[in-house]
Amino acid sequence: MADPMPVTSMWLTCQQPARDQRRGRYVPQTSSHPGKMLPHLAAHAISSYTAPGDLVFDPMCGSGTTLVEAMHLGRQGIGIDIEPRFTALAAANVALAASQGAAGAAQVLTGDATRLLELVPASAVGRVSLVLTSPPYGRGTHGLVQTTSTGVRKRNHHYGDRENGNLAYAGWSRLLDGFAAILAASYHLLGPGGTW
Ligand SMILES: C[S@@+](CC[C@H](N)C(=O)[O-])C[C@H]1O[C@@H](n2cnc3c(N)ncnc32)[C@H](O)[C@@H]1O
Repeated sequence: MADPMPVTSMWLTCQQPARDQRRGRYVPQTSSHPGKMLPHLAAHAISSYTAPGDLVFDPMCGSGTTLVEAMHLGRQGIGIDIEPRFTALAAANVALAASQGAAGAAQVLTGDATRLLELVPASAVGRVSLVLTSPPYGRGTHGLVQTTSTGVRKRNHHYGDRENGNLAYAGWSRLLDGFAAILAASYHLLGPGGTW
C-alpha cells in the first residue's frame, strides 16, 4: 500500500462561530455577501506570511475580509471586486476598521481582476508580500437560510444578477481561465519572497 500523503500544514483556527468573529468588527450589512472568508482564517494567513507594514493584495475581495484583517494587524491592503455593491461594502468595512484605530490602511478598487494590472497603482507592482483570495465557485452559496411554514427560504445567496465578467457566472472552463489570468497577473505584483 502506498504511503498516505504527508500533512504539511494544519491551522487550528476559526474555532468560534462566524458571526462571533465578525461582530463589532464588520458592518451589519456584511451578511449580504454570499461567500465570505472567515476573519480568523484571513488573520492567521496574514500574520503567518507577512510582517507589519507589508502590503497584502486580494483580487476578489468581496466584503473586504482580507483588507480589514490586514489593517488590524498593521499591514496595508489593496482589494478589487467586480461588483460595485461589494466594493461599497468592503469600503464600509475598511472605514469601520480605520475608525476603530486599525494601524494599517487599505484601498478598494472596482473592476475585473482578470485585467488587474490596469487597475492597481503602479506603486504596488513588485511590493506585495501576500496574495490572499477566494474565488466564487458558481452563481451562489447557501446564503442565509430560514425555515418557514411553507418551506426553506434563502436570501443573500447570489453573487449578482447579471453576466458582467463576474466569474460566478462562468462555466468551469472560463472560471479556471479567469482564475489563472488573475493569479498570473497577481504574480507580477509580488515582491521578493512574496507568497500567493
Ligand atoms: C468567494 S467571494 C470572496 C469573498 C471575500 N473573501 C470576503 O471575505 O468577503 C468571490 C468574489 O469574487 C468576485 N469576483 C468574481 N469575478 C470577479 C472578477 N472577474 N474580478 C474581480 N472580482 C470578481 C465576486 O463578486 C465575489 O465577491
